[in-house]
Amino acid sequence: MDALSFDGKIYPVKFQLSSPGRKSLGIYGNHDLRVASISWQEFTGEIKHVYTSPELRRRGIATALLQLAKTYEPKVHHSATRTLDADAWVKVLERKKA
Ligand SMILES: CC(C)(COP(=O)(O)OP(=O)(O)OC[C@H]1O[C@@H](n2cnc3c(N)ncnc32)[C@H](O)[C@@H]1OP(=O)(O)O)[C@@H](O)C(=O)NCCC(=O)NCCS
Repeated sequence: MDALSFDGKIYPVKFQLSSPGRKSLGIYGNHDLRVASISWQEFTGEIKHVYTSPELRRRGIATALLQLAKTYEPKVHHSATRTLDADAWVKVLERKKA
């Protein structure tokens, strides 16, 4: 099992085949509750969902999950259909890459 460290705490990361054709990585906090996750379509690699609990946002968690997802599946990539939050996140990542 992988783990990610934020704010001096270590969070376990679990990989799952969450539904047919959909893979996901989830970060788990107290009481084994999922605090952040990313899922993607198995065959295309398109990201279908990304989520960080409001109290843990802007600490690099979604970005770290994306990097980890790419180690499982190099073809993981952003969807063209996005929420406002996701669009802001993706634009910053693309700007940093440029
Ligand atoms: C989109 C989302 C997953 C980002 O998660 P996160 O863990 O906060 O993202 P990160 O901390 O890795 O963001 C990295 C950088 O992206 C940018 N960024 C992320 N969210 C942003 C937002 N809402 N507005 C502006 N910039 C944003 C910031 O520059 C941030 O770095 P900084 O905090 O040092 O400035 C989170 O806002 C979320 O769960 N939103 C609700 C669910 C959602 O809309 N999901 C997408 C569709 S399924």
